[in-house]
Amino acid sequence: MKTLVKKWIPYPVILFFKTHIERINLLRAYLHDAERFLYHSSMLQYDNQGIKLVATIIRNYHVIEKGLTMPETRLGFGQDRMLQLIDQCIRYISYFDRNDEQIKHASQVIAEYITFHEENNYQLNKAIISKYNDLILKYGRIDASSQISISREDYFAKTNKSFLEFSSSRSSIRNYCNEEIPIQKITDSIDIARNTPSACNRQTSRVYVYTDKQQISKILEIQGGNRGFGHLANKLIIMTAELGVFNSVSERNQAFIDGGMYAMNILYSLHYHQVAGCILNCSTDPKKDKELRRVCGIKESEVFIAMISCGIPPKTFKIASSKRFSMDYMTTYIPSIRIKELIS
Ligand SMILES: Cc1cc2nc3c(=O)[nH]c(=O)nc-3n(C[C@H](O)[C@H](O)[C@H](O)COP(=O)(O)O)c2cc1C
Repeated sequence: MKTLVKKWIPYPVILFFKTHIERINLLRAYLHDAERFLYHSSMLQYDNQGIKLVATIIRNYHVIEKGLTMPETRLGFGQDRMLQLIDQCIRYISYFDRNDEQIKHASQVIAEYITFHEENNYQLNKAIISKYNDLILKYGRIDASSQISISREDYFAKTNKSFLEFSSSRSSIRNYCNEEIPIQKITDSIDIARNTPSACNRQTSRVYVYTDKQQISKILEIQGGNRGFGHLANKLIIMTAELGVFNSVSERNQAFIDGGMYAMNILYSLHYHQVAGCILNCSTDPKKDKELRRVCGIKESEVFIAMISCGIPPKTFKIASSKRFSMDYMTTYIPSIRIKELIS
């Protein structure tokens, strides 16, 4: 039947229908993805388990952590965000779990922010102090957290140690001195990262290295998530993924998976070569995508994965503590009784 169709129907007609069927299949798949994202992300609403509220709290306290670890912390930074953050913590404690590890950390970051301003004799907005007192009433005693202060020597001391020590010693570094990174270190890091696994070894990852200060500054201005440290970057790496290597609807997100794995590997490779970096999102809407593509000179057939601001850290600097979830929170071991239930 298939051969008969091929014999009697001209090839351009078959191609026309094939293309349209593939297009419809792809659109249906993207709609399926979009519905899941719309319903389950926190774009539109909060949930009744607090997962989305915790994520919002983490995002907000992380901005405060970053502010506290900037090369030059600006007194009075982030006061509007701080008001929101305290409100969100109070709301979480009222409706959900007072003992949640992330809420505990958020409260400690709030306390660190208040202490930092007290120690520097800076008068914060009175509403912050009053809300903070409400939080203490709800939560009880709060011990201030302490962001990490470290020397360059100590930060790179584990780069030749066991994987456990090496991996645990990498952090996002948002402070660089004006020392030039030897380009060979970047080249060697990219070379190591070529060992990243990829789907059917198709190696979708592509890397762009920017060295011109003016261009770096233009790109980082569009990126937008590097205030207070981006201007110190000595080099900028952009990672993309080439879509031409994928061939079916089911691979529509593969570029981001392969690209994400590559990105982690290059972060490790840079750390191994004692180059500090901070991975920065390339999360864009269509307008920003076009602008970024134009300024960075990225081909239409590639998608952005992420960028990394790179530099040599100063002799001493600070690192945001970026508290992780516990193993229990993020891991589910499926008992064999459950496996029977799942596959029946
Ligand atoms: C895809 C991605 C995008 C990120 N974007 C930014 C960003 O725009 N600005 C920033 O300062 N940090 C950014 N980060 C860094 C995270 O804040 C950081 O990885 C996280 O807090 C964990 O800290 P660590 O890298 O020190 O372990 C990003 C991280 C990832 C993985």
